[in-house]
Amino acid sequence: MADVRLEQVTRRFGSVVAVNNVDLHIKDKEFMVFLGPSGCGKTTTLRSIAGLEKIDQGRIFLGERDVTELPPGQRGIGMVFQSYALFPHMTIADNIGFGLKIKKVPASVMAERVNRVAQLLYLDNLLHRYPGQLSGGQRQRVAVARALVIEPAVLLMDEPLSNLDALLRLQMRAELKKLHHAINATTIYVTHDQVEALSLGDRIAVMKDGQIVQCDVPMEIYDKPANVFVGSFIGNPPMNFIRGEIMRENGQLLIKGRGFSITPSTRFTPILQGRSEIILGIRPENFRVQFHEPTDTTNAVRASVEVVELLGNIRLLTIDLSGSILKVSVEPHTAVNPGENVWLTWNEDKLCFYDSETEWAITPSRVSA
Ligand SMILES: Nc1ncnc2c1ncn2[C@@H]1O[C@H](COP(=O)(O)OP(=O)(O)OP(=O)(O)O)[C@@H](O)[C@H]1O
Ligand SMILES: [Mg+2]
Repeated sequence: MADVRLEQVTRRFGSVVAVNNVDLHIKDKEFMVFLGPSGCGKTTTLRSIAGLEKIDQGRIFLGERDVTELPPGQRGIGMVFQSYALFPHMTIADNIGFGLKIKKVPASVMAERVNRVAQLLYLDNLLHRYPGQLSGGQRQRVAVARALVIEPAVLLMDEPLSNLDALLRLQMRAELKKLHHAINATTIYVTHDQVEALSLGDRIAVMKDGQIVQCDVPMEIYDKPANVFVGSFIGNPPMNFIRGEIMRENGQLLIKGRGFSITPSTRFTPILQGRSEIILGIRPENFRVQFHEPTDTTNAVRASVEVVELLGNIRLLTIDLSGSILKVSVEPHTAVNPGENVWLTWNEDKLCFYDSETEWAITPSRVSA
């Protein structure tokens, strides 16, 4: 079993707490993605797992083994670094085989394993070349091959696609996914690219300031961000957040904000009652845009279209709701012009509610807890 467990792991650099009391269980053969903005502690967490950082607090387990004090070479981990460097004076075959040579693996076994990994990564025709004679994407694949050749139970990858152009990134992303199914190693993949995270991860751990803010399957993270930070970080454009006051009129709960007043269904009462303010979260694609006043205007909000952008598969509207700016996506063929007034409605099932002070999601269970 190559599951990876972090128990209360902390790593400090002077006054900076790069990894702050992290608890995480990555299952055997799982593809886990660490996602977060620059400086949130992704690389440090990865390096701690690899044994390249000595942690100040906590324990790290690989399967049943407590590896906290174990040197990197004895952990059975392969790592592709953020700034991978190939040896320029060595052939691709020697670069890939380097880790095995250090382990004094016999030459015949080494050649066989290098060939096998090279085939997996479409490098078999390039083994005699030098790094300077390869394209960026090919070099990237060599860096992955070098980590794979030691047949690690756990594979760590730190932004392995960051040096590639957009098209190559897309190709390599699909290849990495295929590769994961082929090798089946427990994989931890670091990125600050949310699309990469959604596409690759069995689960995503979203990090901020050295802590894991939310760890879940991609769809759950996208649909139900645990707080405003996650909703803003995931999704392009990000989730819209609208502040509103909660009022009671004729026994009904209302949410009133700048330029709107809505009556949420009673199923949201446990979330809303007892509060005076709320933040509503709604993704750009979960609005419905109407160009004529609807017959039932109870929950329709009138707003004006400021900017219309065609992004190919969608048309993105920037909408001014009495001073609050919303991003709303509609079908690309929708005929809409800047300056037009529209009525917005939304899918209530997709609404998220956040505490106006802490900015954390409010769920009925949390309310009653
Ligand atoms: N060797 C070091 N000495 C001092 N501070 C460090 C060191 N390594 C990292 N840090 C600090 O620890 C924090 C986390 O850094 P880390 O490299 O883990 O971030 P990251 O999430 O990988 O960021 P990026 O996306 O930019 O690679 C940052 O504030 C960084 O400045
Ligand atoms: Mg990093």
